[in-house]
Amino acid sequence: MQLTPVLEVRALRYSVAGRPLLDGVNLTLPAGRSAAVTGPSGTGKSTLLNCVLGLIRCESGEVRVSGADLTRMNPRRLARHRRDTVGMVFQFGELLPELTPVENVALAALLAGAKRSEAFGRAQRLLTDLGVPAEDTPTAELSGGERQRAAVARALVNRPTLLLADEPTGSLDGQNREAVADLLFSLPERWGCALLVVTHDESVAARADLRFSLHDGLLVEHGEPVLRGAR
Ligand SMILES: Nc1ncnc2c1ncn2[C@@H]1O[C@H](COP(=O)(O)OP(=O)(O)OP(=O)(O)O)[C@@H](O)[C@H]1O
Ligand SMILES: [Mg+2]
Repeated sequence: MQLTPVLEVRALRYSVAGRPLLDGVNLTLPAGRSAAVTGPSGTGKSTLLNCVLGLIRCESGEVRVSGADLTRMNPRRLARHRRDTVGMVFQFGELLPELTPVENVALAALLAGAKRSEAFGRAQRLLTDLGVPAEDTPTAELSGGERQRAAVARALVNRPTLLLADEPTGSLDGQNREAVADLLFSLPERWGCALLVVTHDESVAARADLRFSLHDGLLVEHGEPVLRGAR
């Protein structure tokens, strides 16, 4: 029996100001596997993640997460499906600086409908697991690496089947970059989720099971020839 891939992108097209940014993008990612997308600045990597999050409506094509096509959902169903299936690690963490890490992580669970004790319990366990001081310190006073690990905890708190990360190590120094990258790429095996990472950093991308470059609107798997007619 073939398992449903966690993420299936088919013939995805999206243009900005008449310029095709995504011009027939295909990507399949099964549970427990990781993929990295690299490519020059401005080629549409963040746009691709936003399409997978359903924050951008593509012009044509399909984006299936856990088997359901986001492009056919109304906004309410889309928001629910995203909440139930996807976790996102943003480049700058996007945490609330005045809250403690445990409050930041628990908040994501509370917004998804978890009970208070459950939300705080899960947040506390995740942060301990990821080595982040959870309480007493406002998030603003954490190191860059600790903040980024707290952002990973927040993305994981609702147990997503698909984890997305946009330049998750972009603002970190060498040692923290290694630690956060090691952590992220350990998650598919530990949690069974699929992981899609966009990064400029070759040493981060090298950890992925599948490697792609986004160039001229096409996602090309490393080692594969570019076949423009084969979309
Ligand atoms: N909402 C928008 N309105 C107009 N142009 C946009 C919008 N969003 C993105 N763009 C343009 O689309 C292109 C791709 O942007 P995107 O952020 O996806 O690139 P990227 O590959 O993530 O780049 P970087 O590596 O610098 O993060 C850029 O030229 C950007 O200016
Ligand atoms: Mg980007």
